[in-house]
Amino acid sequence: MLDTAALRAKYNDIAGGEPEGLWFGPGRVNLIGEHTDYNDGFVLPFALEKMAIVAAGRRDDDLLVMYSLELDDRVEIALSALAPGTGDWSAYLAGVLWALRTSGHTVGGTNLILTSDVPLGAGLSSSAAIECAVVAAVCDLYDLSIEPMDRAKIARLAENAYVGAPTGLLDQAASTLCKEDFGLFLDCRTLEGVHVPLPMSEQGFEMLVLDTKTPHSHVDGEYGARRKSCEQAAAILGIPALRDVTDLDDALAKLDDEVMQKRVRHVVSENSRTLEAYELARQGRLADLAPLLDASHASMRDDYEITVDTVDLAVETAKAAGALGARMTGGGFGGCIIALCHTGSGETIAQEIAAAFAAAGHRSPEWFIATPAGGAGRLA
Ligand code: GLA
Repeated sequence: MLDTAALRAKYNDIAGGEPEGLWFGPGRVNLIGEHTDYNDGFVLPFALEKMAIVAAGRRDDDLLVMYSLELDDRVEIALSALAPGTGDWSAYLAGVLWALRTSGHTVGGTNLILTSDVPLGAGLSSSAAIECAVVAAVCDLYDLSIEPMDRAKIARLAENAYVGAPTGLLDQAASTLCKEDFGLFLDCRTLEGVHVPLPMSEQGFEMLVLDTKTPHSHVDGEYGARRKSCEQAAAILGIPALRDVTDLDDALAKLDDEVMQKRVRHVVSENSRTLEAYELARQGRLADLAPLLDASHASMRDDYEITVDTVDLAVETAKAAGALGARMTGGGFGGCIIALCHTGSGETIAQEIAAAFAAAGHRSPEWFIATPAGGAGRLA
């Protein structure tokens, strides 16, 4: 549990006085639909109870004062000096103020004291959690009436243009729009979102989230390289995005490059799996999601080539230990897996993975059972 009393006390130290409020943005897992968002495709995430919280208040000057409780670090910058590419931890907060101003909104000096229990670099959207908490805070403080999807877009602009990570909209949409007990099925082209119930416990299931402790970063080249490969393939195929592939075999026949063929096969098959998962979830058939999770993992491993040894070992061990289905979640190259398990078995499955990690000489994983939580807003 995050210590909001410590957060308030720190606000007092740094800014003098009480914060005007506390706002939060949750992390997320993606149930299915990986690397489909920037291909105009489909995603199906749900928000987590793990979150970033900012204690926030307006200032009389034009300074942005930021402090991280976890890092014990204070950064101060004039709003007029905000510029993309200034990149420590504070970029995730400062980038939002910059994105709001760039989009024509009037915001003034602000104090933002941050705490978060979303693990960093674990594929659970620690950055979007911060961005979306800050969007929520600043919109309330400065009376900006911005629709939820536009808030997500502002947060994404901060991530893409200010932080410099070429991500899609998945994380920010999930952190802003999700609802407790529901997943969010999102069409990343039309931006139409549908909340779909995920009554896991009612049906005798739980979702294990296990962090392999192999950290990743989206600012690194591999994510961008995958994205570029997809864009090149779409250009060769003469379509706006890989979402528009209607006949996979025909598309593959038109591409000479074997690596590009694999990338396309992942994106196109993942889009179909996500549509199928949405349909099954709508029918309340959660157990039937399991084979789709497995197939998604195989596709990320073999075709998109974004898994690593620890992640594959975690997924294989989860399955061997009784998980119905399991896959890596998030951008890849490390991070977390999710495993759909029978209620009460998640802990044992996680222990088995920890034992397999110890035997293989990997770092000890960390884990928790996730329940779908609500999107960003005011906490207090
Ligand atoms: C990261 C990005 C998202 C999405 C996923 C992969 O989380 O931020 O936009 O592309 O990777 O599905």
